[in-house]
Amino acid sequence: MKANNINRMTWMMIAGTVIVCAVLMNSCMESQKVAGKSGVQLWAENCQRCHNTPSPNTFSHEQWVTIGMHMQTRAQLTEKERDKIVAFLTQ
Ligand code: HEC
Repeated sequence: MKANNINRMTWMMIAGTVIVCAVLMNSCMESQKVAGKSGVQLWAENCQRCHNTPSPNTFSHEQWVTIGMHMQTRAQLTEKERDKIVAFLTQ
């Protein structure tokens, strides 16, 4: 009975490790995909999920930087993604 319990724990730990590895590898591939995307692509894909996308000339450079920080948390973007989008919006 005792040995059986230990066995089960071991298998659960192995399964847990495999799942964590799969998730980590997936997120790694995900960020490589993102790295290849341009600011305009990221903007088009992320910023109209919740609302119509305001055009770049709607706001000043400073305003876009602030909005970028605000919307980064809303859209769950990485800093890189946000920087690319803000660079596109302020070019
Ligand atoms: C998860 C939903 C969501 C995503 C994704 C999102 N926004 Fe927003 N956005 C909102 C909401 C909600 C508001 C209004 C309330 C607020 O300001 O928090 C808003 C407001 C705005 C405003 C008005 C000014 C302001 O800061 O309040 C601008 C401009 C804007 N978003 C731009 C963007 C850009 C650019 C992106 C892409 C990087 C983006 N949003 C992605 C939800 C989102």
